[in-house]
Amino acid sequence: MSARALITGITGQDGSYLAEFLLSRGYEVHGIVRRVAVEDPTRRLGRIAHLIGKVQLHAASLESFPSLCNVLRKVRPQECYHLAAQSFVSYSFDDEFSTLNTNVNGTHYMLAALKDEVPECRFYFAGSSEMFGKVEEIPQTERTRFHPRSAYGISKVAGFEITRNYREAYGMHASSGILFNHESPRRGFEFVTRKITYGLAQIMAGKSDQLRLGNLQAKRDWGHARDYVEAMWLMLQQDQADDYVIATGETHSVDEFVKLAFGSVGLDPNRYVIVDEQLFRPAEVNLLIGDSARARSILGWQARTNFEELVREMVAADCLSAGIEYPFAAAAHTH
Ligand code: NAP
Ligand code: GDD
Repeated sequence: MSARALITGITGQDGSYLAEFLLSRGYEVHGIVRRVAVEDPTRRLGRIAHLIGKVQLHAASLESFPSLCNVLRKVRPQECYHLAAQSFVSYSFDDEFSTLNTNVNGTHYMLAALKDEVPECRFYFAGSSEMFGKVEEIPQTERTRFHPRSAYGISKVAGFEITRNYREAYGMHASSGILFNHESPRRGFEFVTRKITYGLAQIMAGKSDQLRLGNLQAKRDWGHARDYVEAMWLMLQQDQADDYVIATGETHSVDEFVKLAFGSVGLDPNRYVIVDEQLFRPAEVNLLIGDSARARSILGWQARTNFEELVREMVAADCLSAGIEYPFAAAAHTH
């Protein structure tokens, strides 16, 4: 009999890759979606359109404990991947309250519902390198102290601690991945990497002549989402639940990302990129770089996609969607 997995946030970047990965391993995959997604699948289920019919979707609300209990009673998953969250750090400054409600209560309700309905189910919590915030050591490991710099970061520290406490207090198999930034052609358009590659493709297509960005000096440890969802699965295959840093161990600035992306199509970013102070955050996380030695030795996991491959894949995908062939000669575009 195939194993049953339940994914919250299945419509997001990671949810879509994780669903593909689990299906490829023979899992029966269930996902929790918002009711509006069922009502408007064309717009809201875009990332998993190719999986419709292969995954089973259940409408429920992260804000409603009984609705989560209902789904758990029906599905009785062996593994639960809790990915749903308000995941945009910048927005968490505009709306701290809903970020904290969704991310903290949503995680708490999910764990409490599992404890009541299927306590033997293994649980994954989507922790984040944003928990390190104003970093207290370089590189960051599982032992580095947290110093979050946004409501988003705070919500993830709370979710991490709730998860740890359910593991210790109730003996649940509950693990947290402390995942550093991971991107892909399915990344949301507001995150900086996709904003750059999509914006670049619009420039290439002659539909735009500028790209407004915020802090170009911020540094991130950027990996590929496809690689990172495998680490989530590996965590739930261990006898003991635990927490793991998942990162590439390399850091690059936003400026480097811009230069590599524009350079890959032969454009000079200085002609198009405008630094807009309005896009700076009230509190910035300046530098993230993770050490995932523990994940390497215990899970046997390591990142497979390097920075340059990631940037090129994202640029190529956005160029393709804009009807532009990639790569092409450096001198080909002169607008
Ligand atoms: P994403 O693309 O923004 O997807 C977020 C998912 O959460 C979507 O399926 C979204 O559903 C769902 N969601 C948001 N608010 C919800 C609510 N109130 N009720 C129910 N569902 C809600 O994020 P991602 O990049 O895949 O990240 C997945 C998880 O990993 C998140 O928890 C994120 O915070 C965490 N994380 C991400 C990274 C990264 O670099 N990508 C790094 C560390 C941690 P809709 O489609 O209906 O909006
Ligand atoms: N979004 C955005 N837009 N960011 C910009 C821009 C811009 O125009 N210009 C510069 N940046 C800088 C931000 O200030 C930040 O330092 C960096 O680019 C990355 O921003 P995002 O891509 O929005 O990601 P993030 O690092 O804040 O958060 C992502 O990674 C976290 C893990 O560290 C999200 O995926 C979070 O959900 C995740 O937990």
